[in-house]
Amino acid sequence: MTWLIQFFQTSIGKKFLMAVTGIMLVFFLITHLAGNLMLFGGAEMFNNYVLSLRSIKPLIRIAEVVLVLIFICHIFSGIQVTLENRKAKPQPYRVSPGSSTSKFYSRTMAVSGSVIFIFLVFHLQTFWWSFQKKQGNDTGFYEIVVNSSVGYKNPAIALFYIIALLLLAIHLRHGFQSAFQTFGLGESRYKGAIEKVSVLFWLIIPLGFVSIPLYFGFIK
Ligand code: HEM
Repeated sequence: MTWLIQFFQTSIGKKFLMAVTGIMLVFFLITHLAGNLMLFGGAEMFNNYVLSLRSIKPLIRIAEVVLVLIFICHIFSGIQVTLENRKAKPQPYRVSPGSSTSKFYSRTMAVSGSVIFIFLVFHLQTFWWSFQKKQGNDTGFYEIVVNSSVGYKNPAIALFYIIALLLLAIHLRHGFQSAFQTFGLGESRYKGAIEKVSVLFWLIIPLGFVSIPLYFGFIK
């Protein structure tokens, strides 16, 4: 166990932790998107879906604790890797050929990650918290997401979601590229194929999420 803790204190260990937890979060996003797309099926379908999750509440609670721990590991390793990168580059504003793109991405990661964090706090404080306040077989979950003042009926909120989700796409894109480097796949002969498959994750998932505030906020 000590060797694992020591490994996570090294530079590559932190990058490894960031990559593995990032991939775990993408799996959460896939299940989260699948559930949320039920909003397109109408109020009854979405409310029944949320009620079915409530019937396995103890399991959901355990999953939530695991999810929080994964988020914390991802955020802390991300902050440490960013700070280490800055320390390694004492002249952050001097542009040298070849490094400008990577610096741009690195800065984009810190900015997009911070906006996603703010989005997440707001998201949990509105949707998640409003759902928690409902008791027993109460429904009305669809109404909270679609028709309430904290939901997509409010165009400012729908727009905020769209911007945050587009930043999520940018964050995931660079996240996947960094993870490939960390796992030593950056220059492998499967690089092209891996990059093509990763589009499914960094682009299609965020666009799937974007479709929800876009439709309920501006089209419906
Ligand atoms: C249009 C996009 C999204 C919609 C409509 C949506 C909807 C929801 C809803 C309704 C809940 C409450 C679920 C419940 O308590 O049963 C929730 C929880 C949550 N959402 Fe989202 N979400 C979206 C995007 C995201 C994104 C992009 C992230 C992560 C970056 C995220 C992370 C979470 C987390 C961590 C929870 C709490 C975990 C849970 O109890 O399931 N959501 N979301």
